[in-house]
Amino acid sequence: MSKMIWPLALCLAMASAWADDDEHHERHDKRRPRQLSSAGAPAVWKTECGSCHMAYPAGLLPAAAWRQQLDTLRQHYGVNATLDAADMQVIRDYLLRASASNTLPTPASTAGEPPRITRTAWFIRKHDEVAPAVWRRASVKSASNCMACHRDAERGDFDDDRVRIPR
Ligand code: HEC
Ligand code: HEC
Repeated sequence: MSKMIWPLALCLAMASAWADDDEHHERHDKRRPRQLSSAGAPAVWKTECGSCHMAYPAGLLPAAAWRQQLDTLRQHYGVNATLDAADMQVIRDYLLRASASNTLPTPASTAGEPPRITRTAWFIRKHDEVAPAVWRRASVKSASNCMACHRDAERGDFDDDRVRIPR
């Protein structure tokens, strides 16, 4: 009987090694936001939160981080980005609802700033092949300027097949 079991056990061990490898890749990949489409977003979010920079899709941060963003608009990365109460309510409802499925940990905020998308572990990992000098190119300006490389970022399209780094 043991003669039969050995090859079987070996097969199982190999199959499970492959499965582990797949699982590892999948788990690795899951640690990034998934729901990035901004279809159905209220117009006021696009106009108010997209006037100084692109309107960052809600799925890029967990709800707790958006709450921190919205609670600190008076001191928003060195600018005052306060809104009137009615617009604020619409935007808050939208961002919290649309980010509810993003359960990634909230990035820590630094130096009195609210959390940044560009400081999340997944962002840093996904962009580890972008050289520091590239971020500083005049055509890019900063990592926060997603649309420099992801043309349809505002619609939530970050597909790596469509990434184009400008010169
Ligand atoms: C008056 C201009 C202004 C308005 C209006 C504004 N922001 Fe910003 N926002 C900034 C600046 C400046 C930065 C820092 C950009 C940089 O570091 O390159 C920033 C950064 C951010 C970041 C962090 C990006 C990163 O680096 O990860 C988020 C998220 C963000 N804003 C969300 C919002 C939301 C949500 C609204 C609407 C409620 C909003 N912003 C409205 C000026 C503005
Ligand atoms: C200087 C160019 C550049 C900027 C600016 C940039 N990215 Fe990227 N991004 C890339 C490159 C290059 C990749 C592809 C890495 C790869 O091929 O695996 C990527 C990959 C991604 C991915 C993974 C896509 C996938 O299919 O796995 C996401 C999500 C993403 N970026 C989000 C963002 C967000 C959000 C911003 C702005 C806050 C941003 N990026 C700014 C260059 C950039």
